[in-house]
Amino acid sequence: MNSHFPLGDISVETFLREYWQKKPLLIRNAFPEFEPPVSADELAGLACEEEVESRLVIQDPTGEQWELENGPFSDERFSNLPDSHWTLLVQAVDHWSPEANALLEQFRFIPSWRIDDLMVSYATKGGGVGPHYDNYDVFLIQATGQRRWEVGGIFGEDSPRRNDTPVMILPEWDAEQTYFLNPGDMLYIPPRLGHNGTAESDDCMTYSVGFRAPSHADILRQFTDFVGDQLKSETRYSDPELTLQKSPGLIRQSDMEKVRSIMTGYLNEPELLENWFGQFMTEQKYAEQADSPEETEQYSVEELTEYLQDGGLIYRSEGSRFAYRERTDGSVVLYVNSEACEISQESAPFARSLCDLPTISAEQVNNTEALEVLTELYNMDAVYAEE
Ligand code: SIN
Ligand code: CO
Repeated sequence: MNSHFPLGDISVETFLREYWQKKPLLIRNAFPEFEPPVSADELAGLACEEEVESRLVIQDPTGEQWELENGPFSDERFSNLPDSHWTLLVQAVDHWSPEANALLEQFRFIPSWRIDDLMVSYATKGGGVGPHYDNYDVFLIQATGQRRWEVGGIFGEDSPRRNDTPVMILPEWDAEQTYFLNPGDMLYIPPRLGHNGTAESDDCMTYSVGFRAPSHADILRQFTDFVGDQLKSETRYSDPELTLQKSPGLIRQSDMEKVRSIMTGYLNEPELLENWFGQFMTEQKYAEQADSPEETEQYSVEELTEYLQDGGLIYRSEGSRFAYRERTDGSVVLYVNSEACEISQESAPFARSLCDLPTISAEQVNNTEALEVLTELYNMDAVYAEE
């Protein structure tokens, strides 16, 4: 059969053609015998950490009102919660747990630069964040307990929303379909589809593989900032060919053509857009938290060689982002955490493996260039060795 784990009986091709960004899909038993890589206690522990982004959403038992608290939380906060109708949500659990990170390997049928993070929620009976929509695709994996997911309608910025709640709630929302998810089941939800997840039991844990897609506003702003930062102030609109025009107030069509060609000139400049995009899409989610290289232990090329020759494996650091692009001459540009690195044609297979495989061993590090790049990445904390 042409199926792909964890898509059940559906092939990746069918999933991409018929569901991805189009309609929801329920996959029963997508993860048979799913063993949650992070337990409820570990999740609560993470939510007490300063660097971890977490939220508590507490619902009024009438189901009409919500309260939002942002982490970090104290142990005491967890011992003073109501018996039901609350949920704890922890963002980017894949950054903090290699086991949680490994779950993302199952979603490599979507480009890794489209993946945002793995969010994990824990809810008591009745808990949920209410009917809302997200701008992103998400795979919702039921880890423990049972959750009722209701879905329906396509929403956007102009859709009515409650203005008296701290979390986004769609008013008078009607579900079109209802699914009950048990451990191991998975529901795919495309962007902007209204959804509401309610815990049907205590100990309801949901793992959400969330994607990202840059907004057009971000693409325009970020590219122009990237280009603008490289330009000198004397690089300006110029018109040495100016001729007398009858109306001084007129902006001529030819002036506009000049402005348009300034814009398209940057867009058509070789590699400018490509380099910006590679750097932009490999920016770390929490770039401000990255260790400065002085704080990390430095390795020499010789030490790394020895480590690999002894059968050691190299892993991408959990919070790091890797991508590459290919040139027609076979060379590649590797992007790691917004740094660009030129890679020759000979080392291109190494760069691909580094981005695509779960681990790197001596087998993939085929020459000195690859070893040097890997050492540099190690010293940037973008990859790590086993303990
Ligand atoms: C959850 O409660 O686990 C998911 C929240 C959401 O629908 O975004
Ligand atoms: Co959502």
